Amino acid sequence: MKKLLATVLALALVLTAGSAFAAQKVGVAMPTQSLQRWNQDGANMKAQLEAAGYEVDLQYANNDVATQVSQIENMILGGAEVLVVASIDGGALDTVLQTAKDNGIPVIAYDRLLTGTKNVDYYTTFDNYGVGVIQGQYIVDRFDLENAEGPFTIEFTGGSPDDNNAGLFFSGAYDTLKPYIDAGKLVVTSGQVDFETVATPAWKSETAQARMDNILSAYYPDALTGGTTLDICLCSNDSTALGVTNSLVSFGFTAENIPVITGQDCDIPNTKNMISGLQAMSVFKDTRTLADQTMKMVADILAGNTPETNATYDNGVMEVPSYNCTPVFADASNYKELLIDSGYYTEADLAE
Ligand code: BGC
Repeated sequence: MKKLLATVLALALVLTAGSAFAAQKVGVAMPTQSLQRWNQDGANMKAQLEAAGYEVDLQYANNDVATQVSQIENMILGGAEVLVVASIDGGALDTVLQTAKDNGIPVIAYDRLLTGTKNVDYYTTFDNYGVGVIQGQYIVDRFDLENAEGPFTIEFTGGSPDDNNAGLFFSGAYDTLKPYIDAGKLVVTSGQVDFETVATPAWKSETAQARMDNILSAYYPDALTGGTTLDICLCSNDSTALGVTNSLVSFGFTAENIPVITGQDCDIPNTKNMISGLQAMSVFKDTRTLADQTMKMVADILAGNTPETNATYDNGVMEVPSYNCTPVFADASNYKELLIDSGYYTEADLAE
């Protein structure tokens, strides 16, 4: 199999080299089309790379690791000169990345770190820990935790354990809130505070919803009739926030009394929920900025220049030179400026 791969690869390289005017090809591996942001990421990457004259092989893997591995193999066989990889499981790609390395193809980890491998050259992302800090700090300010006595009740919902970002989002938020938990101003009634316990495999809304259903019936059964109420749901992103919101609404909460829910991504349903008062805030990570930064990296690499970096991430095997873009706080008061005036969405996208 390996031999066959090598022969086909050699043939592909000869063919590519033979066509003097062939555009340089960039392979872009995305995790799934089922969550809104990756469709935007993929579309932006493709548009920007093509506008710069590159040929793009864009693939979505339906959240299936084996599919992503074979897509990356095909990109290598198809003559990609750089790979941009937004992984499903950041720790599961070492073997296929070794094939890329053996063939001299540089790899950029996109948004999610590629872990446990030395076969990654660069990483472009947002300040992931910073995303969690924005969420946590919002709770500190909104409940005036410096001065208020509380106690306020809070439950955490984290992201997918195979996504390196998820732990960083959770730590950023938890580290910011821990002093107030320690001081008794915030109370996690369920006691569920470990990342492993609050994590949501594959970031699925349905999974987050089912877990919140259980938490509500076990710890807040009388929340709407004078019993222990729930004040805050710290959710790491919008897909989990959506599940938690659905759970709270089915329980009987309305925009008037729903707990303060955090999110990330400014997905369309969540932005609508911010407008209607069901979700308190989100964190905007402009996928155009990330695509633009990644584009610059691709261009530098292909031109033989060293790309600009401003951070490093430890992937367990090496320090990966990285570029952190800046996440931005979003809520009902600034979404127009951030999302509509900037052309990210149209008014119609956010209409009921
Ligand atoms: C991304 C988030 C996204 C999540 C689920 C993370 O890796 O950084 O923006 O919400 O994956 O798709």
